[in-house]
Amino acid sequence: MCGIVAYIGEKDATPVIVSGLRKLEYRGYDSAGIAVLQNGKIEIRRVAGKIEKLEKLVDENPTKGNIGIGHTRWATHGAPNEQNAHPHVGMAGRIVIVHNGIVENYLSLREELIAEGVEFKSETDTETIAHLIEGFYSESQDLYTAVQSALKLIKGAHGLVVMSTEEPDRLIAARLGNAGGVALGIGDGEMYLASDVPAIVEYTRRLIFLESGQVAIITKDGYSVNDLDGNPIQTEVVNVPWDPISVEKGRYRHFMQKEIHEQVRSLSDTMSGRVDFEEHRIHLKTLNLDEEKAKSIKKIFITACGTAAYAGMVGKYLIENIARIPVEVMVASEFRYCDPIIEPGTAVLAISQSGETADTLAAMEEARGKGALLLSIVNAIGSQAMRIANGFISMQVGPEIGVASTKAFTAPLLDLYMMAIYLADLRGTLSVEKRIDLVKDLLTVPGLVEKALKKEDAIKAIAAKYKSMKGALYLGRGVNMPIAYEGALKLKEISYKHAEGYPAGEMKHGPIALVDKDLPVVVIATRDAWYEKMISQIEQAKARNGHVLAVATEGDELIQNLADEVFWVPETPWLLSPVVNVIPLQLFAYHIAAQLGLDVDQPRNLAKSVTVE
Ligand code: AGP
Repeated sequence: MCGIVAYIGEKDATPVIVSGLRKLEYRGYDSAGIAVLQNGKIEIRRVAGKIEKLEKLVDENPTKGNIGIGHTRWATHGAPNEQNAHPHVGMAGRIVIVHNGIVENYLSLREELIAEGVEFKSETDTETIAHLIEGFYSESQDLYTAVQSALKLIKGAHGLVVMSTEEPDRLIAARLGNAGGVALGIGDGEMYLASDVPAIVEYTRRLIFLESGQVAIITKDGYSVNDLDGNPIQTEVVNVPWDPISVEKGRYRHFMQKEIHEQVRSLSDTMSGRVDFEEHRIHLKTLNLDEEKAKSIKKIFITACGTAAYAGMVGKYLIENIARIPVEVMVASEFRYCDPIIEPGTAVLAISQSGETADTLAAMEEARGKGALLLSIVNAIGSQAMRIANGFISMQVGPEIGVASTKAFTAPLLDLYMMAIYLADLRGTLSVEKRIDLVKDLLTVPGLVEKALKKEDAIKAIAAKYKSMKGALYLGRGVNMPIAYEGALKLKEISYKHAEGYPAGEMKHGPIALVDKDLPVVVIATRDAWYEKMISQIEQAKARNGHVLAVATEGDELIQNLADEVFWVPETPWLLSPVVNVIPLQLFAYHIAAQLGLDVDQPRNLAKSVTVE
């Protein structure tokens, strides 16, 4: 879950690496470090804390060299202090490494190394790799083969970059399993390396993504990629279309706020090239489906984690309603432990912003092993979840930096809606009239989201009133039930307040006992098939002195009179209402956390891509 950046070329490596780390701080932010080869010596600067501390340190105590590696950490083994921060050096000081992943057998390796006389300076598992590589290096005098040999001994999933004083003209990078990506960025007489694209997209958009079991030798003029046995591998250069500006905050105080506001554009972008406005048809070519394949699908499993899983829950309603294919949603961390029944005709659809979430990738592997048709909806271009699927939909929303996912929640909602139409069309189960109506409805969404965003000031004022609340209960029904889960997750992850999302109808089976004057109840009560039931929910909460905050359709006087506060949203076709209804809940959580002065973009204990299981 850490971030890695490296550089080799003619430039001063330090600013390139430090600014790259800044862009990856969302991956982990408890400590950071950099190592640069300076006059044949490894110069290391490390800090406990955020990248700004590292920036200060390299200002005060500069490093200068044309080759270097850097790291921002999310601690797994060892406290987040300076000693445990990466890079880590081998005992003889000739090898230095940055690493993402967990060495699952590090305790036994550590004991063996200690028995051989190695002295450990940190509590990390990573340091074992540094010592192992250095040990092999003294035998082979070749960095590449030393890394190869060490990789064969370590268990687990890893992404790493290694540098040596003895070979100042090269870096070695490797990926084993799903501990996060390793991308090589091709420059002109220079090469960049990063665990995630935003770190280097300002310098190059020509990238190679290492697959599991691949080791790369990188010099300033090029690269070669081999498998673990040294066999050369042909790699594909991917042109990444991201705009570097999208990884800057612009006029916003936080990335999260910027990304919430970007949704008008990101929702249009996710439709771009996929909607035939004349025919009112959807085309999702990258899903690699034809009529025959689409007709053969008998069941879809949707698997994902966190926010992406909530998008999947909405997807169940959309696909079942529009395409009439049964859908089961299962969080990825459970998927492979429930021995899922995958029969001929089962498709497994994974949803992931990062495309590198370890649980989601493990679920995809389980599905592939069982012969499922593997599909994905992914944001990060070139990520593992995109590459290993038989077909995919790219969210096309650009990098999402805020740890709390917003635009990468709403885009897959539209992608799932489009996928449902596309599947139904291919299977021949959708009437022309219904298809036209559904596509027309789809096109209204960016405008409706824009209207919902215009209420930000009113939402900010409500947040000011409720920012001291201890927690909240979020209730929704039908297609908006997952929006209650998502609203609650947004609040808890950035404001550290307890919040629980609940299917509204389940209230009376237990949670209603919680309701009193101190527990705000957030109710999604827009005009849809469940509206009247939601009204009685509000009545029930009010009867117990609960404070009701309702997401309601503009002009709804009944709710205006019943609820204590109202988040107004424009009237929206019901299948698409989750996209609009989540907007005020994102803004509410954002303004509470911002007004409490919390670290909105990098909340405690979290990281943007969770590459550990
Ligand atoms: C959402 O705000 C999260 N921080 C988290 O739940 C996230 O959605 C989850 O970890 C899945 O990530 P992915 O989409 O990159 O796979």
